[in-house]
Amino acid sequence: MPDLRGKAETSFPEYRHEVERVWNHNSAYWDSSMGEGNDFVDVLCWPVIEKLLSVQPGQLALDVACGNGLTSRRLGRLGARVVAFDVAEEMIRFARKRSSVEDGDIRYFVLDANDEEGMAQFGGEKFDCALSNMALFDMAEIEPLFRSLFSLLKPGGRFVFSMMHPCFNQASSALYGEREERDGEEVMTYGVRVNGYMTPTMFSGRALGGQPLPQPYFHRPLYALLNVGLQVGFVLDGIEERAFPTTHQPGRRELSWGPNFSEIPPVIVFRMQRP
Ligand SMILES: C[S@@+](CC[C@H](N)C(=O)[O-])C[C@H]1O[C@@H](n2cnc3c(N)ncnc32)[C@H](O)[C@@H]1O
Repeated sequence: MPDLRGKAETSFPEYRHEVERVWNHNSAYWDSSMGEGNDFVDVLCWPVIEKLLSVQPGQLALDVACGNGLTSRRLGRLGARVVAFDVAEEMIRFARKRSSVEDGDIRYFVLDANDEEGMAQFGGEKFDCALSNMALFDMAEIEPLFRSLFSLLKPGGRFVFSMMHPCFNQASSALYGEREERDGEEVMTYGVRVNGYMTPTMFSGRALGGQPLPQPYFHRPLYALLNVGLQVGFVLDGIEERAFPTTHQPGRRELSWGPNFSEIPPVIVFRMQRP
């Protein structure tokens, strides 16, 4: 039977070295601004990651593109044995510096997630679970990573990954606010305008305000992103879309992700399982 699932080019290998260069360059700024987390991690990502990953003490967990290790330490404190890696050597230097025995059993490596030979060194069918927090859109390629994860995870093993929502939080989307008068009352309406989605694209942006260099981002629409995992044999068995609650403290800017946009999720989290 022909495979009718959509296929789009999701790889931008020409940016591989630029990704590594920029993240190394920005690592000190990232580490000092991000520290052990921010609102995106603490409010939007982590509560559902913890639920979907459901890691048990003693289980072996892989933290893909771990940055300064903030999620590696959270996994370690839950009792997991953690193997964590990032392509940026400087990030791993900060990750090691921040981690202590209280954070549990964590081993850090410098590795490109799309280096299949390098990934194979972690051993086949060993991991109970894998996590990648807010990083797949920073990767120039993702197909080799999904192939590797399928081999590294035990049958029944799960891969949880959180992303900027490709529908609402990407290069071709813009936050807007409109003021109008209804029945003599001033009413504000906040929303998102989207003028591009279907085509995977590279764009430049800053993850954190004030970051020294903009980084390459890789927009992949949902069909393109998810089919990469489905085509190597994973099953999608969990999904959460995450927006800030109306009770969340407003940010400094009216048009920034926060309570004004409580109906629109800037983050989406998936779980895929190796059958
Ligand atoms: C937005 S940061 C997220 C870091 C971390 N997961 C966190 O939650 O704080 C994205 C990370 O992806 C890493 N990265 C990008 N491409 C990568 C690749 N091909 N292999 C491994 N890490 C990569 C970057 O170096 C950076 O540390």
